[in-house]
Amino acid sequence: MEKNKILVTGGLGYIGSHTTLALQAAGYEVVIVDNLSNSQADMLDRIAAISGIKPALAQFDLCEEAALDQFFAEHANLGGIIHFAAFKAVGESVAQPLNYYKNNLLSLMLLLEKMQKYAVPYLVFSSSCTVYGEPESLPVTEAAPVQKATSPYGNTKQISEEIIQDVLKAQPALQAIALRYFNPVGAHESGQIGELPLGVPNNLMPFITQTAIGLRSELKVFGHDYDTPDGTCIRDYIHVMDLAEAHVIALQRLMEKKNRANYEFFNLGTGQGSTVLEVIASFERTSGQKLNYQLTERRPGDVVKIYADTALANEVLGWKARRNLDEMTRSAWQWEQNYRGQ
Ligand code: UD1
Repeated sequence: MEKNKILVTGGLGYIGSHTTLALQAAGYEVVIVDNLSNSQADMLDRIAAISGIKPALAQFDLCEEAALDQFFAEHANLGGIIHFAAFKAVGESVAQPLNYYKNNLLSLMLLLEKMQKYAVPYLVFSSSCTVYGEPESLPVTEAAPVQKATSPYGNTKQISEEIIQDVLKAQPALQAIALRYFNPVGAHESGQIGELPLGVPNNLMPFITQTAIGLRSELKVFGHDYDTPDGTCIRDYIHVMDLAEAHVIALQRLMEKKNRANYEFFNLGTGQGSTVLEVIASFERTSGQKLNYQLTERRPGDVVKIYADTALANEVLGWKARRNLDEMTRSAWQWEQNYRGQ
C-alpha cells in the first residue's frame, strides 16, 4: 500500500487509541502526536500488547508551531491525518473559554497550514452531535440546522468545521470528512484499553463503572421528569470500536477519491435512542452488579433527547454500527475491572 502512514493526533486518548488499533488492523502504519494532557504514555504499550505493533509517538503540543513543523519535515509521505487532539469537557470550557478556543482552534489552524505546506491532502475531523443543539425533529439528519452552541467547547466544534470548509474552498487539493459523534462509550474487546477520564468523570458510562467498582459512592441521574418514556434524557450511545472503524472507512474514502465533495460530514450513531435508566439496566444485566444510583435534579444545559439518522453514513459512507448497548456496557465494565486489577 502506498502512503499508508497516518498521523493520529490525540492517538493516546479514548477514541484515538481505539482508532489506532482499527487503523493497524487495516494495515496502516500509525504515527501519534499527543501531549499527554488527558492521556497516559502507557497507552502505547497497551496498544502494542493488543496489535503487536508499537506506534511511533511524538510527544508535543500541536499549538507549538516549531515542533509541528519539524514533525512534518521529519515525516514525509504522510497519507492522511485523523485529528482527535482537543479539549472536550463542557463544564471546564465554560470556566476556561480562552483555553478551549486557543487549544482547539489554534491546533487545527496550524495543522491545516502544515497540510498545505507539506502536501498532505486528507483530513478526518472529530466533530460532535453537539452542533445540532436541541434538535427540532428526531432522528437528526445531517440536514438539520447547526444551532448556536451552548458552551465554548461546542462552539469550538462548530467553528472548527467552518474553518475547515473555508480552507478547503481556497485549497481544492485538500479534502476532509467531519464525523459528528453521538455518545461514544465502551471499550476494545480485549479489555486492555478503554476510557480513562482524569479525576471525577463528567460522562455517564465512566461514572457508572467507577461507581460499580467502588470509586464513587453513587451515580446521580440528572433529571427524571423530562418528556421521555421514563423521564430521563435520551442519547444515542455508540460503541467506540464502531466509531473507530468509521474513521478508517472515512479515511479510505478520501484516499480512494470516493468522496462526492471536498468537504463531507456524517452522523455517527446507532440510530437508537436510550434513556439513562435503560443504560443503567443494561449495565446491571451485563455486569451482574446492582448499581447504586439516585434520581436527582436536572443538569443545566442538558439536551433532552437526541439520536441520529444514520442513513447517510450507512448508504454513502458505507458504514453501520454493529454493536448494541449490552456490548457497550459489558466492554466498559470489563475494561474498568481490568484497569483496576479486579
Ligand atoms: C456531552 C456533550 C457532548 C460532548 C460529550 C463528551 C452536551 C449537550 N453534550 O454529552 O457535546 O461531546 O459530553 O464529553 O454538552 N448523566 C447522568 N449522570 C451523570 C452523568 C451523565 O445522569 O453523572 C446523564 C446526562 O444527563 C445525559 C446522559 O447521562 O442525559 C449522557 O451524559 P454525558 O455522558 O455527560 O454526555 P452528553 O451530555 O450527552
